[in-house]
Amino acid sequence: MAYSLKIIIASTRPGRKGPSIAAWVHEVSKKNEFFDIEMLDLAAINLPFLDEPEHPRLQKYTKEHTKQWSEMINGADAFIIVTCEYNFGYPAALKNALDFLYNEWNNKPVGFVSYGGVAAGTRSVQQLKQIVTALNMMPIAASVNIPFFTKHIDEAGKFTGDETLTKSLNGMLAELEKWTAALQPLRTK
Ligand SMILES: Cc1cc2nc3c(=O)[nH]c(=O)nc-3n(C[C@H](O)[C@H](O)[C@H](O)COP(=O)(O)O)c2cc1C
Repeated sequence: MAYSLKIIIASTRPGRKGPSIAAWVHEVSKKNEFFDIEMLDLAAINLPFLDEPEHPRLQKYTKEHTKQWSEMINGADAFIIVTCEYNFGYPAALKNALDFLYNEWNNKPVGFVSYGGVAAGTRSVQQLKQIVTALNMMPIAASVNIPFFTKHIDEAGKFTGDETLTKSLNGMLAELEKWTAALQPLRTK
């Protein structure tokens, strides 16, 4: 049985570039037979600001959107978060989506694909690594960081990673495979 890998698109604004980068991540990742892959687009999922009265650890969800989000994340074994950088940090919509749940994230590895200007979104990723550990996730060291990402986007809006980026993504997938299998005993407890 293949493990479930979910690719999360973190940016939500109109005109965002996140989906085109995530489409490339999906295209490369689906060649990997270890994972069944699904895309989770935070713009389409459209969570409101956290509106649950209890701590997510208790899983006493009162809202239908939380129950649906819980189901989506519960079903995953591993994640790739495709994130931009806003003002040297991660997008607020992503933090909100992470905060909605707790147990559902536990014992799952996460790899990051970031994009931006000269810093390639790395400041956003460094902050996220700290945050995901509070959710008992395993942020893997291998990542894909894309500087000046617009040069890889054609007139039709399609992002195509070059050889270096593709190699880096395949390296990250190999690391994700290792951690997904290694953490499996913890997820079944
Ligand atoms: C509010 C805002 C803040 C930004 N701050 C940064 C930044 O700190 N570093 C960076 O590399 N790019 C920054 N940018 C440029 C983004 O890299 C670029 O707009 C990118 O397309 C954002 O991802 P998105 O299109 O998926 O929303 C910022 C863009 C916005 C809209």
